[in-house]
Amino acid sequence: GPILCVVGARPNYMKMAPIVRAFAAAGPALDHLLVHTGQHYDPAMNDRLFADLGLPAPAVNLGVGSGSHAEQTAEVMKRFDPLVERLNPRAVLVVGDVNSTLACALVAAKRGVPVVHVEAGLRSGDRTMPEEINRVLTDQLADLLYTTERGALDNLLREGVAAGRVEFVGNVMIDSLLASLPRAMPPEQLLRAAGLDPAPLAAGHAVVTLHRPSNVDHAEVLGPLIDALRTLARRLPLVFALHPRTRAQLERFGLLGRLDAPGIFLLPPQGYLEMLGLMSRAVMVLTDSGGMQEETTALGVPCLTIRHNTERPITVEQGTNTLVGTDPRALLAGAEEVLANGGKRGRVPELWDGRAAERIAAHLAGWLERNGQAC
Ligand code: UD1
Repeated sequence: GPILCVVGARPNYMKMAPIVRAFAAAGPALDHLLVHTGQHYDPAMNDRLFADLGLPAPAVNLGVGSGSHAEQTAEVMKRFDPLVERLNPRAVLVVGDVNSTLACALVAAKRGVPVVHVEAGLRSGDRTMPEEINRVLTDQLADLLYTTERGALDNLLREGVAAGRVEFVGNVMIDSLLASLPRAMPPEQLLRAAGLDPAPLAAGHAVVTLHRPSNVDHAEVLGPLIDALRTLARRLPLVFALHPRTRAQLERFGLLGRLDAPGIFLLPPQGYLEMLGLMSRAVMVLTDSGGMQEETTALGVPCLTIRHNTERPITVEQGTNTLVGTDPRALLAGAEEVLANGGKRGRVPELWDGRAAERIAAHLAGWLERNGQAC
């Protein structure tokens, strides 16, 4: 049966879009079906992004929704398994590190279906991060591992993954970025559409996103971060796109009102073209997202990552990324540095060239043929 290409949550979509495009261009050799687990379901987290990225509507939506990690992972498994049984796919392709990634890889592996993992081998070394657990386990289950940076191979070798299974292809997320940049929405247009006056952004702005449980689930971490943002907003307008989890926690802690401050522009989760427009024109980006660390490096925009570690070290070593941790003073010092001298310049990493999905398609077609999985 067809290769099952799985997406579950927002950061999967920009990775999958170029892959299904490249598979479609390859024709019957890479016959495939797009499956959505339903992990993310808000229109703001889904529909807009699918349209922006030119992703076709999923052939199947498993509709799992939210829950604890155990519930969510188990529910994806329970609903994905009969699909695999029925369709007998030649391979299951998963991207990134969300709960849906691991759940579907595990189902496929138990059914003896080859697992292909795109964005393999990234490690933060921080097992308190749910995504780190998902990365380590998915890579153990995978038969074929496509990496975005050369250092990923060392991580995989250390965990006993055979080098022959690993292929360095570059970064599919940057495929989407380069393909979509000409259609990015200017920030002024976006603010006007949201009923806000864009004039304050004329002299520059910063983009803010926060959603990691470690940052938003504890008032004693989130409160000081919000206060630091209020301080920074007096120097530079901040456009803050709020993840539903973050909004819910701010409300729970009674902190949402503190973002009603001069220079802070609060927005709901944005579409892909809106975020690209905001980021590409930003003075700096402040985030705990994984993908935005890479996107800012590709765009050459300074990024202050509000985390103590990163699974994407190349963005720090070669790109524009700086880890500032969660101490509000370090965050403000980092921001001052960017305001004073423009921040890190960086360079674009090897093979972040917009053609990673093409390389995956070419390699996978050969691999399936060699492994007797041709239809
Ligand atoms: C997930 C990923 C994370 C990724 C993030 C991007 C895992 C372990 N985490 O985190 O790696 O960076 O997506 O957004 O898979 N919610 C909604 N609407 C939605 C989705 C979620 O309101 O469409 C709310 C619900 O209250 C839910 C909470 O957000 O309980 C968390 O959603 P969940 O999918 O569990 O994880 P994310 O925090 O979104």
